[in-house]
Amino acid sequence: MGETTYSVEIVVPEDADSERAGEVVEIEVGEEEYVLAAARNEGLWLPADCQQGWCTTCAAELLEGEVDQSDAKRYYEVDDDEDMTLICTAKPRSDLRIRSHQHREMLEHRAEYDKPPGKSKLG
Ligand code: FES
Repeated sequence: MGETTYSVEIVVPEDADSERAGEVVEIEVGEEEYVLAAARNEGLWLPADCQQGWCTTCAAELLEGEVDQSDAKRYYEVDDDEDMTLICTAKPRSDLRIRSHQHREMLEHRAEYDKPPGKSKLG
């Protein structure tokens, strides 16, 4: 039966609050797996909270590739337009390259388009 798997490169920014800051971590993610869970299984602990595609804590920037974001509870067309992804509920549909730790950027983006949660959540 063999599930299709994709190669996913996760670029952890230099300034990320992570032991892996500055690294590029390559993992394999099955087509029915979420990127966040797959990364954590591989020992890369990325931030998340709700794990339902709602809170935006896990936001990342999609640098290359396509994801299926249909399991996210709150994901807007403008997020897709700006290549923002919620990796807790993102399933790969191609090989991917992703920049992690984009929660603040996501909040700013949502505020710009007047979508929740916007600047009110910025500390
Ligand atoms: S962890 Fe809440 S949206 Fe992904």
